[in-house]
Amino acid sequence: MDIRIALKTGIARLREADVPSFTLAAELLLLHVLGRNRTWLYAHPEEIIPDTELQRFFELINRRAAGEPTQHLTGKQEFWGLEFEVNPDVLIPRPETEHVIEVALDRLALHELRAGRPQKSAGEGLQIADIGTGSGCIAIALAKELPAADFYATDISPAALAVAQRNAQRHEVAKRIHFIKANLLSTPVGAQHATPQPGAIANNAPASVFYQSPATSHQSLHFDLIVSNPPYIGRRESPSLPREVRDHEPNAALFGGEEGYELYADLITQSAKHLKPCGLLVLELGHNSLPAVQPLFDTPEWTAVGVTNDLAGIPRVIAAEKR
Ligand SMILES: C[S@@+](CC[C@H](N)C(=O)[O-])C[C@H]1O[C@@H](n2cnc3c(N)ncnc32)[C@H](O)[C@@H]1O
Repeated sequence: MDIRIALKTGIARLREADVPSFTLAAELLLLHVLGRNRTWLYAHPEEIIPDTELQRFFELINRRAAGEPTQHLTGKQEFWGLEFEVNPDVLIPRPETEHVIEVALDRLALHELRAGRPQKSAGEGLQIADIGTGSGCIAIALAKELPAADFYATDISPAALAVAQRNAQRHEVAKRIHFIKANLLSTPVGAQHATPQPGAIANNAPASVFYQSPATSHQSLHFDLIVSNPPYIGRRESPSLPREVRDHEPNAALFGGEEGYELYADLITQSAKHLKPCGLLVLELGHNSLPAVQPLFDTPEWTAVGVTNDLAGIPRVIAAEKR
């Protein structure tokens, strides 16, 4: 079978199965199997596909038709112009999360301007935390933009941290990112006091990094910037989620509680304790989280609260400055 017929057959199969963006999905799966790019694909429509690759392509088409996300079949997703490894242990990075990066960089630039430093800095001396790092996409994108900054990336899921660590290695920023298994920014019971090595996963070691007590205050860290895309979908919304999301992405990455916005209160309270004065907090919002989240910033600790809409006009990012 040649490329044109194989692609046409794959597209028809995905269309019948009600797969969203079926043409793109079939193309991506064929490109993945052939190890080619799109230009080559369309320049060689008559090329005969070897049997093993053809069989592999239709296996993937069947799995996609049964609901597996394309990114789980190809093992990758682009974010901020970088390619990330993804698997069922991590949320597939979404384009709207790029607004978190944009807002964080804009706010940092403003900060530098106000401090009389050049606006385009490499982030010298900045300590940045990404809470709920998943694939690592936010921490890694920021690490590429701010090549002199240091990062702490937490997740409650060790399997997600392993993926994030591989992505950091792939993008050559692992030496500047400390990976930590933690519940938001808090100290789990039985925490060790060893300082985690950059690029290695510190299991149950956040006490040394985040926790301020008389015994550990010399080790505790305060951040210039905390970013997070927390789980924010309500469990009660689960039946209305696309099957690709509900059945294939990790529950811990999707659901923030029955309503969805439950994690924000702890995240904001803990962030206030772990930001330097004038430090920034930048959070992604769920499509209906703003009314529940914005009032949490109505305390004397916060100022300069701003909301940014995504391309669909949905309030997507909330940012604030610690007084
Ligand atoms: C919505 S995903 C975001 C992943 C990634 N930052 C991104 O933007 O694609 C949320 C992540 O937070 C993690 N998570 C959930 N609850 C957590 C908690 N209490 N503390 C730390 N991480 C948590 C999940 O395992 C998941 O990786």
